[in-house]
Amino acid sequence: MNVSNWFFRFGVLAVLVGMCLGMWMGKEENFTLAPVHAHLNLVGFVLPFLFGFFYRSFPSVAGGLSAKAHLLLSLLGVVSMTGALAVFLQGDKSAVPVMLGGELATALGMLIFAVNVWRAVGQSPAPAAAE
Ligand code: HEM
Repeated sequence: MNVSNWFFRFGVLAVLVGMCLGMWMGKEENFTLAPVHAHLNLVGFVLPFLFGFFYRSFPSVAGGLSAKAHLLLSLLGVVSMTGALAVFLQGDKSAVPVMLGGELATALGMLIFAVNVWRAVGQSPAPAAAE
């Protein structure tokens, strides 16, 4: 499984959904779901694209279990966090535990990413031109 490709694929799907939501909000002049739109586009698209480029640049860590765990946690995190946030913003507080789970998954994924960044930059020498 190519982790980088899956981050790219997921990112474009998330931004398509996020943009449709933005257009719907504008048409309806109802901005209740603006935080869902913002998180779908930023945590669902911008971050996965950065992750995708990173794992492309550092194949030494892209093939490992930790990169796969990062992918899984990121995807589960965005879907559950934004879905539960949408329900919560309609006034249904029962969505809070799912939202919390999504937040924890997203944060844990980012922690794993931080470790991968440290490992990757430690293993790969900087390009000569940049020194
Ligand atoms: C077709 C494309 C898009 C449309 C139609 C759209 C539409 C909107 C609308 C209607 C709002 C609410 C404005 C308000 O509350 O007054 C909004 C907010 C926002 N949008 Fe978009 N947007 C689009 C793309 C994007 C993209 C690509 C990103 C980020 C990568 C983004 C990030 C945000 C953020 C951060 C907010 C503020 C959310 C908040 O205040 O809670 N949007 N957008």
